[in-house]
Amino acid sequence: MLKRFSSEVAIALWHAEHVNFAKLLDLLEGQLDLFHKGESPDYELMLDIMFYMTHYPDVLHHPKEDLAFARIKQRAADSGRIVDELTEQHALLKESGDALVHALDDIVNGSIMPREHVEEPARAYVADFRRHMHTEETAILPLAATLLRASDWVAIDAAIRHMDDPLFAKNGEERYAALRRQIAREAVAFQDCAQQDPGFEEVNSARRQ
Ligand SMILES: [Fe+2]
Ligand SMILES: [Fe+2]
Repeated sequence: MLKRFSSEVAIALWHAEHVNFAKLLDLLEGQLDLFHKGESPDYELMLDIMFYMTHYPDVLHHPKEDLAFARIKQRAADSGRIVDELTEQHALLKESGDALVHALDDIVNGSIMPREHVEEPARAYVADFRRHMHTEETAILPLAATLLRASDWVAIDAAIRHMDDPLFAKNGEERYAALRRQIAREAVAFQDCAQQDPGFEEVNSARRQ
């Protein structure tokens, strides 16, 4: 019990979710890049990604962060501006994520729309989400590690209705089976590239900053 709610474990889980979201943003960006190669992206895969983003990060990860942010702001007054910006970004990401789900759903269901209608907002979403997580990772997680105790995490967990991650948890939802397979394929491809070229991993992580 104590281990589950220790600050270290809570922050490690927080970071692990960011790593998962980053994988999905990479996948989404990969699909957007297909436009420029004259190929068609996999709209169903893009919809699965955005459906997940609006049904896990928006529903559990961000509301949980908002509660952690409020406690951080109370204890470190100079974090107020950055915390307020991040909280506001949660609402904006939800808004743009919902709009993308609707646009992709329309396409999957047969609507024809100009590629710019999806590509521009999707690229903006990827960039905004990455920037948002980068700020959390560099400015907020270190603060949380020093300011939040196990009792804070117990209170935060109790205030949010728990749900298992429907994609990355062991018994994930069936609706994400295709996306799960794609993530596994990407991981294998990434390992192959990294083995053949030791600089590959470094170049890729620099590209996402
Ligand atoms: Fe966030
Ligand atoms: Fe986050």
